[in-house]
Amino acid sequence: MCGIVGYAGFRDCSEVLIHALTKLEYRGYDSAGIAVFDNGKIKVCKSQGKLEMLKAKMEREGRPQGHVGIGHTRWATHGEPSDVNSHPHSGAKVTIVHNGIIENYRELKEFLSSKQVKFVSETDTEVVAQLLNYYYDGNPLDTIIKTIGELEGSFALGIVFEDFPEQIYAVRRESPLIVGVGKGENYIASDVPAILKYTRDYYLLDHDEIAVLSSEGVTIYDEHKEVVTKQLMTADWDEDAAEKGGYEHFMIKEIHEQPNSINMTVKPRVEDGLPNLSECGITHENIKNFKNIFVVACGTAMHAGMVGKYVIENLARIPVTVDIASEFRYRNPIVGKGDLVIIISQSGETADSLAALRLAKSLGAKTLAIVNAKGSTIAREADMLIYTHAGPEIAVASTKAYIVQLAVMYLFGFELALAKGRITEEKCRELTSALLDTPELIESILKNDLEKSQYISTQLITADSLLYIGRGLDYALSMEGSLKLKEISYIHSESYAAGELKHGTISLIEPGMPVIAVATQPELLEKTVSNVVEVKSRGAMVVLITREDFKIDENAYDYRIDIPATDDTLMPMLAAIPMQLVAYYTSVLRGNDVDKPRNLAKSVTVE
Ligand code: M6R
Repeated sequence: MCGIVGYAGFRDCSEVLIHALTKLEYRGYDSAGIAVFDNGKIKVCKSQGKLEMLKAKMEREGRPQGHVGIGHTRWATHGEPSDVNSHPHSGAKVTIVHNGIIENYRELKEFLSSKQVKFVSETDTEVVAQLLNYYYDGNPLDTIIKTIGELEGSFALGIVFEDFPEQIYAVRRESPLIVGVGKGENYIASDVPAILKYTRDYYLLDHDEIAVLSSEGVTIYDEHKEVVTKQLMTADWDEDAAEKGGYEHFMIKEIHEQPNSINMTVKPRVEDGLPNLSECGITHENIKNFKNIFVVACGTAMHAGMVGKYVIENLARIPVTVDIASEFRYRNPIVGKGDLVIIISQSGETADSLAALRLAKSLGAKTLAIVNAKGSTIAREADMLIYTHAGPEIAVASTKAYIVQLAVMYLFGFELALAKGRITEEKCRELTSALLDTPELIESILKNDLEKSQYISTQLITADSLLYIGRGLDYALSMEGSLKLKEISYIHSESYAAGELKHGTISLIEPGMPVIAVATQPELLEKTVSNVVEVKSRGAMVVLITREDFKIDENAYDYRIDIPATDDTLMPMLAAIPMQLVAYYTSVLRGNDVDKPRNLAKSVTVE
């Protein structure tokens, strides 16, 4: 939800800011802008639309020349995407970029208006710029401390003061922000990929800490103006990991990276053939007594939780409730001591998931975070933490982050089942070994099913609406298949429990309507196929994703995508792949912006 960057150094600042914003465009792409000290004066250039529009404007109008500045790429919250609502925003002496939401901006705006301050935009950000300007007394640090004392909500701010052309200031509360450290140059950014071209070293800023950066160094203060000593972090991946590497889109590159992501995530957590999550604070002793488990997350991460529910309940026999984070936090959940709340999040910054984590802790539950982004807020606040090692996921539509969330749910489920004595060590070894084999099987699917998926996409592109159906684990997986397709192809789609269709939804079926059915579970095969036949006989065009060894009457479907067989429990790890491919190619064929679908952003740090 918006990306902010800042630079103080010796390079051409406009170029650095634009490059850094390119790497953050996944966070929002409604508009973009920069502010650079040009001959000692702040020069702002901003534009509605994607970064390309800003670049074109800078070509036309001349770009700011200088070595210190800030930049922004926006996902609109307050005020439509327009030039005037684009960041940076300014008061007379101060210019800022902002990621987050100022909840009390109306009150603050009223207060400032009563002091004759005039506003030009509809944004909450301009209110912060004007408040900083209002309190500005020649001392930036004091001004920032006073101003943030009055702000409610979430923010990461990059700030420049007209009187201090060598410096940028940064402060955060809730919204993520890092401070990149180079030689003779320093940076701020919402996320690590923005700075990887220049440095891999960075500090994580904590809540209400203020960073002061110049080309000469970085000083970080707490809200009492005390200097804080921070641990310097080093990114464990380089710039190439966040590049397309010859692929047309990040999404297809990330689909192909899945085998490696699983290996990175699973292998280090297996010892002597069994899961070992002790480096994550998880031992048999501290997990075996939970009464209830809640999995709380949003979007794709929540769908990974749905698969996890089937796995944990089936193997460990503990009740698992899966909640959408935005519902959990307001439904007064019956959660407390003795319960485990698992928060799954790729970014580790999703506002609702973070709020759910805090709520669970306040109610006395133990919390476990499954997170991809290192050092993110959810990762830092949970009691136990399992990192997924997907590497940077840039495409807005999640693929490799999902597959490793599944992998971790499996590892955790196996370990829990063993800890509770619900499965034998031998069975646990068998399951773990099957999990370790999934990367190879996924490689074969990527090789064998690519063209078929491409062809099936040609049959979907004109559809107005389609259904995904399945039973059990296949139903849990089809939720993700449906989300993947709709978010990037813009074709309406719904996932449905196959056995539930005839209680209403089957009336939607009309000749030619695509239905994507998933049937990977031997025990449910017959029943799912009979549901498939029900829709097929009403004219649906059926695509069946199933195991290569299943014998199914050819009249039951129009197209069949075969995947290899593994342990039944693990089939979603494989069946996910053709679903991702079909969604990807359908989006490509419809001419959509696959990596940056309309209205979306990668990291949702607002409610
Ligand atoms: O960063 P998170 O995993 O917490 O994000 C959750 C959802 O916003 C995310 O999975 C979203 O649904 C993606 N667009 C799915 O592709």
